[in-house]
Amino acid sequence: MKVAPSILSANFNNLLDEINSCEGASFIHVDVMDGHFVPNITIGACVIKNLKGKIDFPLDVHLMITDPYRYAPDFAKAGAHIITFHYESDSDIEKTIKLIKDLGCLAGISIKPGTNVEVLKPYLKDLDLILVMSVEPGFGGQSFMPNALGKLEALARWKRENNYQYLIEVDGGINKETAVEVAKSGCEVVVAGTYIFKAENRVNTIKYLRKL
Ligand code: DX5
Ligand code: ZN
Repeated sequence: MKVAPSILSANFNNLLDEINSCEGASFIHVDVMDGHFVPNITIGACVIKNLKGKIDFPLDVHLMITDPYRYAPDFAKAGAHIITFHYESDSDIEKTIKLIKDLGCLAGISIKPGTNVEVLKPYLKDLDLILVMSVEPGFGGQSFMPNALGKLEALARWKRENNYQYLIEVDGGINKETAVEVAKSGCEVVVAGTYIFKAENRVNTIKYLRKL
């Protein structure tokens, strides 16, 4: 399992040290919220820009914003490695995937808990990552919604059957127990905010997740 600690639960006053404490992580997950697509405002491209060259982890940027097509270039320029946007956003899906790739980033798409995974079928062959939300996007520290498991299973099956390249990622409510469930369902990348950043020993927590 690849592990992507979500800095939403980190101490923003000390972000560099917080990120560097995540030994063993494959990516650092950055939750960008615009107060419009979701009822919360977090961080913008300027914060990511300041991390450039100072951390060794690729940045997995999760755009919870209404118009990802408009803002993707800012995040690519700031140093994002993966840019994931929402199927439910206002931007044209195909155009946004192409734009993200043309910017030299990996392109991911995410679906909210109420969105059927089947809607992604036309785009699967072009995607580098699929992010299944297991909470309503907007806030850390919520409880895992089990309806994510069937979506992960379907994505793993379609990937196997068609030799697709996308990584299967899950985000929201991951802890010691729910991580076991998502691993069994075919998830390849777990995002975890509270579970990692509030852990007594972050490195051991990441190690535990990696072994699943
Ligand atoms: C929620 C964010 C998540 C969040 C997860 O909208 O996309 O990445 O940080 O937080 P936890 O792991 O605390 O549920
Ligand atoms: Zn996220």
